[in-house]
Amino acid sequence: MLESDAMSNSSGHIFQVVRQAARIEEIVGEHIALRPAGREFVGLCPFHEDRRPSMYVSPQKQIFYCFVCAAGGDVFKFVENYHKMSKGEALRFLAQRYGIALPEYRSASPQAHSQRDRIYEANVWAAQYFQKNLLGSIGETARQYLTARGVNAATIERFKIGCAETQWTALAAAAAKKGISQETLLAVGLVKSRSDGSPYDVFRNRLMFPIIDLSDRVIAFGGRILPTAASAQGTESPAGGDQDGPKYLNSPETALFSKRETLYALNLARQPLIRKQMAVVVEGYMDVVGCHQAGVENVVATLGTAMTEQHIHMLRRFCNRVALVFDSDDAGRRAADRAIELLLRYPVDVRIAHVPDGKDPCDFCMAHGGEAFEKILAQARDSLEYAWEKMYAMFQASDSLAGKQRASEALMRLVAPAILNSTVDPIRRGLLQKNIADLVGISPDEVHARIRKLSAAAPGTTNNAGATGAVGAVAPPPEPTTVDVGVQRAGLWIIGSLVSDFTLYALFRERISIDLFPEPAMASLLARLLEYLEELTDSSTGNLAEFMALLDDPELVRLVMQAQTEAERGGNFKQKLEDSLNRLEELSQLRSTAATDIDSPGGATPDEAARLKTVVDTRMLAAKTNKLRRPLGPRPQGG
Ligand code: UTP
Ligand code: MN
Repeated sequence: MLESDAMSNSSGHIFQVVRQAARIEEIVGEHIALRPAGREFVGLCPFHEDRRPSMYVSPQKQIFYCFVCAAGGDVFKFVENYHKMSKGEALRFLAQRYGIALPEYRSASPQAHSQRDRIYEANVWAAQYFQKNLLGSIGETARQYLTARGVNAATIERFKIGCAETQWTALAAAAAKKGISQETLLAVGLVKSRSDGSPYDVFRNRLMFPIIDLSDRVIAFGGRILPTAASAQGTESPAGGDQDGPKYLNSPETALFSKRETLYALNLARQPLIRKQMAVVVEGYMDVVGCHQAGVENVVATLGTAMTEQHIHMLRRFCNRVALVFDSDDAGRRAADRAIELLLRYPVDVRIAHVPDGKDPCDFCMAHGGEAFEKILAQARDSLEYAWEKMYAMFQASDSLAGKQRASEALMRLVAPAILNSTVDPIRRGLLQKNIADLVGISPDEVHARIRKLSAAAPGTTNNAGATGAVGAVAPPPEPTTVDVGVQRAGLWIIGSLVSDFTLYALFRERISIDLFPEPAMASLLARLLEYLEELTDSSTGNLAEFMALLDDPELVRLVMQAQTEAERGGNFKQKLEDSLNRLEELSQLRSTAATDIDSPGGATPDEAARLKTVVDTRMLAAKTNKLRRPLGPRPQGG
């Protein structure tokens, strides 16, 4: 808050510079897959559970806008919302992206530093510390291990791989020297406290993989145990537990890190993913590293958890095909089954691949290269086919009727969401239904009816795929108002004309007033617009994208988009603005006459009076609900 105020007051200019350098279609296109549609681009909205592309990006207006959830604004707003950044952080992000040097900005006091910033800083420092370890004498074992696995120096650098010392307090001591507080280290899970309160390192003698988010911030670590851990000297566990611990240790969940919402290496895989329109999901850190080194870069991993809805939601921003690659052991098969169950509920093309010979993707890539791995991906089986084959095997294996019925019903239940939500194409769906029909000896129609019934009986399978994982709720449709259409239209045109040509304001400034707008939402939009216009020193610098970004209420964003679109369709903004003002002034006069008449008996007919009273009430409500006072500000020049 503090920061963004300071930024916008003291360095508004830098925002302009960055805004001019940034291309919204580029930035949005780096975060979600966009395809051209006329003069604009469309893609899946990342701010709600989007099924059809409803996010539009206009290079000409430099805005983004979602027709479903009404998220919209300029390039800063997009970055802020997407990365949950403050305005200052978004500025830094974009400035860096376009190579613009920012004026040195120092926060007034160390306390102004947020907890989040401290956490990031501690993680960044630790990542560098681990990297340094790896290169020095401490890193001997780790380097040997990486070499044995075939990981080369470029890959180590790219993934910022490091290692943790065998000692119990190496990191804690180094951090203290750096002035990083124990409290922060505890918060990010790099140290724990002994009973006497002194800290000890959580990660010891481990290969360290920093987990980096889409804004290139280190949010957590994964640490793989090194083979010689047990033989390390002079290590005594303060907790008295076993020294080795689990094979992998992850940072604890923090405000910045949640396993369910994180995919390892998505920061590196994002562009390749968009380019190839396919995401490859593997199980391990090492698998990702091996695949990338072999040149297959659209690869990410879950962090020791099964796929979650959030993961799917993240991936669907970038592409619509997902290939899951599992080891060919039992655990791998079970994981595949679980993932399929979830993924079949989404309109994603899911494929399942298994790495042969009991190898994991990392070792496979190291042994056979990226092209061989791509072949495995190309042969990946469609999820429905996979489900079918599994069921078929079960069906055949069972010799009782009841067993066969269980097998077929299990399959039908599994595929029900995909079939009923029409997330699979009709041909695949038809084939599957026919296959089941043939096997069970009923008609495909009966199969369909059966699927319907099974899915109705099982809660949470039909049509609610996104309900639990939805990131942003879809705003309900606006309430119908009692305001007549002519007034509504005139209001829209006034606002639409003003945001299409900001210089018009100077010409009509004296006549435009909130009192003319009887409809509450529109009146409050106009109030915001007037505030914005009054603050501009030069009205020609007015900018729709910037104005939109100031609106926090999706309803207002929706309205301004509607207004702008309508005005643009009609063109001739000045004329339109003038006509609409005339119309509203006329109506306003009528209303005030009517209002006095309502009080004096015998004026209007009861019907008319009631209608007019509604109009007047709405207006009064409008006046009450929002800061409708005309802000006092310098008059724009040349009016
Ligand atoms: P793997 O054992 O397959 O790990 O576990 P890996 O990355 O392929 O490593 P190598 O090839 O054995 O060296 C897969 C993933 O499961 C999680 C980690 O995210 C790991 O990458 N995992 C595994 C844990 O979180 N804890 C564990 O103890 C083991
Ligand atoms: Mn492995």
